Amino acid sequence: MNTLTETTDAIMPDPSLMEKAGNIIRSGGLVAFPTETVYGLGGDALNPSSSQKIYAAKGRPSDNPLIVHIADLDALPLLSDDIPDTLYMLAEVFWPGPLTMIIKKSRSVPKATTGGLDTVAVRMPDHNTALSFIRAAGGYIAAPSANASGRPSPTLASHVYEDLSGKIDMIIDGGEVGIGVESTIVDLTEKTPVILRPGYITSEMLERVLGKVDTDVTLIEGTDKRPPKAPGMKYRHYAPKAQMMLIEGDTGKVIEMMNKEAAAAAENGLKCGILCTDEIKDSIKADLVLSVGSRNDEASIARSLYRVLREFDSAGIDMIYSESFPDKGFGQAVMNRLSKAAGFNIKKIQ
Ligand code: TXA
Ligand code: MG
Repeated sequence: MNTLTETTDAIMPDPSLMEKAGNIIRSGGLVAFPTETVYGLGGDALNPSSSQKIYAAKGRPSDNPLIVHIADLDALPLLSDDIPDTLYMLAEVFWPGPLTMIIKKSRSVPKATTGGLDTVAVRMPDHNTALSFIRAAGGYIAAPSANASGRPSPTLASHVYEDLSGKIDMIIDGGEVGIGVESTIVDLTEKTPVILRPGYITSEMLERVLGKVDTDVTLIEGTDKRPPKAPGMKYRHYAPKAQMMLIEGDTGKVIEMMNKEAAAAAENGLKCGILCTDEIKDSIKADLVLSVGSRNDEASIARSLYRVLREFDSAGIDMIYSESFPDKGFGQAVMNRLSKAAGFNIKKIQ
């Protein structure tokens, strides 16, 4: 299959391109598109064969449910006969935006889209191109992140091309995404809402609207044996090809250890990459030292993270050592992705 790449202004998407992309979806094809979090791989959420094509293109296990993207609140009643008030309360504050909510699904939503579950994940992205595309396609786009399964999520159209060219009909290139990590997922089917995946919308922000919110324990303890409630969280995800270790501790000691490990890797003929911040970049010697921005700029760290992991892959790095970050607020989402990329290989130095 020839994959068409079309560029558009992210804020003022070209209407004829939106119509063309919408027609591909209506006839059962797949289109990758930008959102404010990461690029998504879209298909018709109400067409089981489209969802099957998404799983095939990504090489993703089909028990891992897809998020249904909508552009208008009017689209909700078709997806669920049992929409909790909490959804509307959160939608008023956070939609369009990087928040995915899980509710009971109606019969209109095929199980092929929800990985066999009776619930459906719904999100309204805060991105003009995404919203226009969803409307042009009929209002219901099933979309996982547009990476090959197991690879870091795409923050640029070129990442999508790298992973999926030849496997999907079209890529809409709307430039670099704004946030860089996937949406927060909250399950509203439990008595107390539960965060299944941390993101830009933090538990504190949700609690301001809902009162108490829980967090799925399997997110906090990488070693917890229970299966996570979001099936996707159990797969080795966001992973670079290299082995990776996070180093936590006093900055001076972190620098010292990175330099020591890089030298040891070189002696063993291994290529060593360092993922760090601007503040320590110049103090480190390794094959490839990449900064994700200033340590004080959480947004830049999140936006750069997946791009930098991909750059280590392209450079054929064998071992990555990474700085670690405060596990608070939005930093929790960054640390969640980093810890998973490292397979929870975290070294704490005193
Ligand atoms: O920011 C995002 O959410 C991006 C953009 C494209 O919107 N999408 C995204 O989708 O990250 P994906 O498929 O890579 O991650 C969806 C996660 C998976 O971990 C999946 O298991 C979980 O959401 N999920 C989806 N539906 C669910 C459901 N009904 N119950 C529990 N978890 C669900
Ligand atoms: Mg994903």
